[in-house]
Amino acid sequence: MALVSVELEAREFEWEFAPGRSIRGFGFNGEVPGPLIEAEVGDTIDVRLTNKLPQATTIHWHGVRVPAEMDGTHAVQPPVEPGGAFEYRFTVPDAGTFWYHSHTNETEQLERGLYGPLIVRGPDEPKLDHERVLLLDDLKLGADAGAAAFGDEHEHHAGREGDVCLINGRLEPELNVAGEALERWRIVNTANTRFVRLSIGARAFSIIGTDGGLLPEPMRATEVLVTPGERVDLAVGPFAEGERLEIEALPYDRGKGETPPVVFGTLRVGAPVTSHAEVPGTLRPIEPLAADNAEVTRAVSLKALMHGGHDQRADPVRVGELQVWDLVNETGQDHPFHLHGFFFQIIEENGAPPPVVSWKDTVNVPRKGQVRIAWLPDNRPGEWMYHCHILEHHAMGMMAHFAVVA
Ligand code: C2O
Ligand code: CU
Ligand code: CU
Repeated sequence: MALVSVELEAREFEWEFAPGRSIRGFGFNGEVPGPLIEAEVGDTIDVRLTNKLPQATTIHWHGVRVPAEMDGTHAVQPPVEPGGAFEYRFTVPDAGTFWYHSHTNETEQLERGLYGPLIVRGPDEPKLDHERVLLLDDLKLGADAGAAAFGDEHEHHAGREGDVCLINGRLEPELNVAGEALERWRIVNTANTRFVRLSIGARAFSIIGTDGGLLPEPMRATEVLVTPGERVDLAVGPFAEGERLEIEALPYDRGKGETPPVVFGTLRVGAPVTSHAEVPGTLRPIEPLAADNAEVTRAVSLKALMHGGHDQRADPVRVGELQVWDLVNETGQDHPFHLHGFFFQIIEENGAPPPVVSWKDTVNVPRKGQVRIAWLPDNRPGEWMYHCHILEHHAMGMMAHFAVVA
């Protein structure tokens, strides 16, 4: 078990998202995304955050089962003021694709770039020829080519969708992949609001993982919906030398009208290599947490949340007591619901069981729809929260705090 030490300095910098085009960014160590933090299951991560921004900040470790005090929300720590510092320290119990981001004034701080990837590897990962971590984002540019002003009234309701799309902080980059190679792509949607119905040149790929690590078995697909906060791990390829494919988001209507297709980047296929990739037919067992007919312990109305304002408190839950929650969305928009600190399983979506059991921390609740989840509070008592991961909705108050009690 190793100790992974990281220094993160949050500061303003000139974020050049395309040659000759930049905005005044906020970045960890002056880059977007922030540095890749990599660890093995069981390692301890120690992060020293120094705040050189002109505003307070905190860091949240999205998806990592940290102790409550390390969760980065205002319920568990005072924000780190300009000039201040804070030490985050936690062990990483689960393998998967995670990310870290500011949990203070998120609508502005994430849009300006305060996020980065965190990868935890397990002992038994599938072997692919190459791995990439792709953080998908968009940026809303203002008339003066800086970031458009924050706090626009319309954004509270509709969210903030950008006009340019980025992979790893760069506008429509070109990625080079070797012919015949099978690659692992760890994808994170870090956008404030944009839903990404991901397509890679309309080719088939295998979904091998979600928020909380590997699926029981790979699932073939030609597209996958990744809403803000969510992750998917894909096995991508093989492609033939000379091919050129677009990494794009297909049209999607989240209740605000159908978005046109948008390009995030291009894939260029180079000279072939001999593939040594092995993706087994079974990746890992996942036991269902609750029976199909498990009794619902709580209903969470997203509409009530939306209009509840800040400082809403939900009932506490007890360590070791199975939670079965109905997430009910009576609104006319989809909302990606995110639970801090714990993974859940989806039991049903609009009454139907999901195609596969998986561990999630963020799930899209379709408009006028319903998602039933099950989760078990393990022994990490303290203050936790859930919220819509459309950051403007979260800021508007679409969130609640609750306690996990021993
Ligand atoms: Cu990534 Cu409170 O969220
Ligand atoms: Cu989170
Ligand atoms: Cu929402």
